[in-house]
Amino acid sequence: MDQQNLPVALVTGATGGLGTAICRRLAQDGHHVVANYRNPEKAAQWRAQMQAEGLQFAMYQGDVSDFEAVGQMMALIEAEVGPIDILVNNAGITLDGQFRKMTYDRWDQVIRTNLYSVFNTCRHLVNGMIERGYGRIINISSVNAQKGQFGEANYAAAKAGVHGFTKTLALEVAKKGITVNTISPGYILTDMVLAIPEDIRVNRILPEIPVGRFGGTEEIAHLVSFLASRQASFITGANYDINGGQHMY
Ligand code: CAA
Repeated sequence: MDQQNLPVALVTGATGGLGTAICRRLAQDGHHVVANYRNPEKAAQWRAQMQAEGLQFAMYQGDVSDFEAVGQMMALIEAEVGPIDILVNNAGITLDGQFRKMTYDRWDQVIRTNLYSVFNTCRHLVNGMIERGYGRIINISSVNAQKGQFGEANYAAAKAGVHGFTKTLALEVAKKGITVNTISPGYILTDMVLAIPEDIRVNRILPEIPVGRFGGTEEIAHLVSFLASRQASFITGANYDINGGQHMY
């Protein structure tokens, strides 16, 4: 397919569970998808897996927690692929543990990767989007930002910060054709959730989910697809919960 005139969508943390589903879906929707990754070995396996599915992505390495590295990556993408129309801030990590034992390093790593990353990508992109008069920014937060979660002071703080950021940036660029929204997934079947000790996952978390199951990655990708569309131009500064009824407010 000639990708020259397709809208360009950058997905950070593309090689993870949610990132993969989002890339697949945006490609199916007819976007030129650029996949950001951090770990080259994982990325090589991912590329092969995607090729086996008949999908090809432009892939760019960059640690989203590093402002300078993100700037270099963005410049390269814009030179080689073109201006970015859609940004999905999906990259994120967990380093769970009770706060009374949490080291500064585990706090810092999670805040940098999950919150500073959103500053880093948006700061490098937003002026270009303003000049072009168009943009879609979708930030992935979490149900745990809204309700708190035992063992996730670092993660909940970062993810709650993401939505405050979303609302403010949404206000500032509302007249420029750019929308900024948050999606707050609940417990979705990804490696991140599978890393929770089985006893806690099955006996503590699953019973809290009224629909009685964990979510699927494609369910999050479906909403990303909607918010990324041109038709979603009146939706901005919003937060969408996809959590099986686990938390409502
Ligand atoms: N509520 C209350 N108490 C809990 C608890 C909970 N949800 N989970 C664990 N505990 C208690 C245990 O019962 C145990 O208590 P006792 O000592 O009285 O027996 C204690 O916590 C465990 O003590 P540890 O020293 O083992 O605790 P720790 O500091 O190592 O932390 C933990 C354990 C890492 C927090 C572990 O409980 C855990 O992994 N919990 C799940 C956290 C979670 O949900 N993470 C989400 C990851 S996925 C994600 O974040 C994606 C998303 O956006 C939804």
